[in-house]
Amino acid sequence: MQNRILIIDFGGQYNQLIARRVRECGVYSEVKGFESITLDDVKAFDPKGIIFTGGPQSAYGDGAPSIDSGIFELGIPILGICYGMQFMAYKLGGKVSTAPTSEYGRTEVTVDNKDGVLRNADDTTVVWMSHTDYVSETPEGFTVTCHTKDCPIAGMENIEKGMYAVQFHPEVNHTLQGFDMIRSFVLDACKCDQDWQMAAFAEEQIAKIREKVGDGKVLCALSGGVDSSVAAVLLSKAVGKQLTCVFVDHGLLRKNEAEEVAAVFGPEGEYDLNFIKVDARERFYEKLKGVTEPEAKRKIIGEEFIRVFEEEAKKIGKVDYLVQGTIYPDVIESGLGKSAVIKSHHNVGGLPDYVDFKEIIEPLRSLFKDEVRKTGLELGIPEYLVYRQPFPGPGLGIRIIGEVNAEKVRIVQDADYIYREEVAKAVAAGEMTAPNQYFAALTNMRSVGVMGDFRTYDYAVALRAVETSDFMTAEAVDIPWKVLQTCMTRIINEVDGVNRVFYDLTSKPPGTIEFE
Ligand code: XMP
Repeated sequence: MQNRILIIDFGGQYNQLIARRVRECGVYSEVKGFESITLDDVKAFDPKGIIFTGGPQSAYGDGAPSIDSGIFELGIPILGICYGMQFMAYKLGGKVSTAPTSEYGRTEVTVDNKDGVLRNADDTTVVWMSHTDYVSETPEGFTVTCHTKDCPIAGMENIEKGMYAVQFHPEVNHTLQGFDMIRSFVLDACKCDQDWQMAAFAEEQIAKIREKVGDGKVLCALSGGVDSSVAAVLLSKAVGKQLTCVFVDHGLLRKNEAEEVAAVFGPEGEYDLNFIKVDARERFYEKLKGVTEPEAKRKIIGEEFIRVFEEEAKKIGKVDYLVQGTIYPDVIESGLGKSAVIKSHHNVGGLPDYVDFKEIIEPLRSLFKDEVRKTGLELGIPEYLVYRQPFPGPGLGIRIIGEVNAEKVRIVQDADYIYREEVAKAVAAGEMTAPNQYFAALTNMRSVGVMGDFRTYDYAVALRAVETSDFMTAEAVDIPWKVLQTCMTRIINEVDGVNRVFYDLTSKPPGTIEFE
């Protein structure tokens, strides 16, 4: 019987990431919602270990996510993470209360006891925190394994009973030794054999798609970004010319992007696809006139996208399937799991009610960004495309705070182009490594400045650069001051309508990567 870990989902943001880390240990895992699983289901699943995830609620609050306390009596090792730790403490007779100081982001933790999952941790190490409650008293039989300045019980264990818990998130990369902690739990505490390997994802998907589509026609929404490019190539390998890729220029693309995408995927490019480019710029600007609310903008852009696709589909004749490059973080951040809604990414949560296709195919829905890239390489997509920084579906629409218009798009495109050019130069000169995502955004703020002898009243551009591998958490990049200064000078001199440049230092959480 294959070794497996059961992950009980209490509604946190990073739950699939936990599953992914367990997979990286070579052990099969499944995530199940707390409300859809009974104690008998747990027994039937026969896990070698159980992980309780984080979640947004208070363990002592009304309607708090819960599972039958009998789970603690099964003799199966349990690791509680964040809410999972608080739930464990609360159910076993400890105390959970509101922390006097909430902790978010990078936090230094001091390790007090290395008998359990912290066995390989340094005496002090950096972890990722995101909590407002904490365990103020451990249940009987538990020892405290680590603490931070503001959290006296940042970890607790009762090794005899196989109970382990941490207040921080070991599953995110920003917890420096987090993967080792998960591996300790899975391999040492649960004694799992490493008997699972990720099947060749691309091959499996190609076979599945072929079977599903038969001789039907498929339309792919190609944006030129990594996700939709991988989805498009996957589909073209599966169904060849039954696939038509539609690329919509919604007027919210980066400078020169429409031409670059057409060069790669169009008739002159390297793929054997049906490729259609639609110039829908005016149409999108018209719809976005006067709209300032971020979610409203996303919904409008998402809806208009679908309308354009539907029109193109009608021209082609009967189209059965629509392909989208939705990836896992889009799914959870849109609140389709039980996590709280942060943003409705247009290609998932913002879909209009009426969609004139038989079905939507989302072959990358279970993958994280770096897994998408691996798949892309497996498919033979060139590295420069695979490692392209991500660009959101709603494009510059969510990088322009407030109302969008052609003039603001021009400003942000030009500023962004200069910023990318300068970062590329600095990377080539070995002055910095390429950030995972970096861009200019247009704040809706205008302020007074002086240029020559004239007073100006112009826009402020914000520059952002983040380091992240999963895009679920991120940190601002320490860009050399000299590079920022060059960008500032060039942007103000070369881009009409800008008289101030900011650099954004915010990590995620509490910020998000995009501004809207
Ligand atoms: P946030 O801003 O949510 O961004 O921290 C995380 C990653 O998702 C991208 N993003 C989007 N992608 N539609 C998309 O297709 C969207 O509405 C959207 N919002 C954010 C963002 O660029 C980053 O890579």
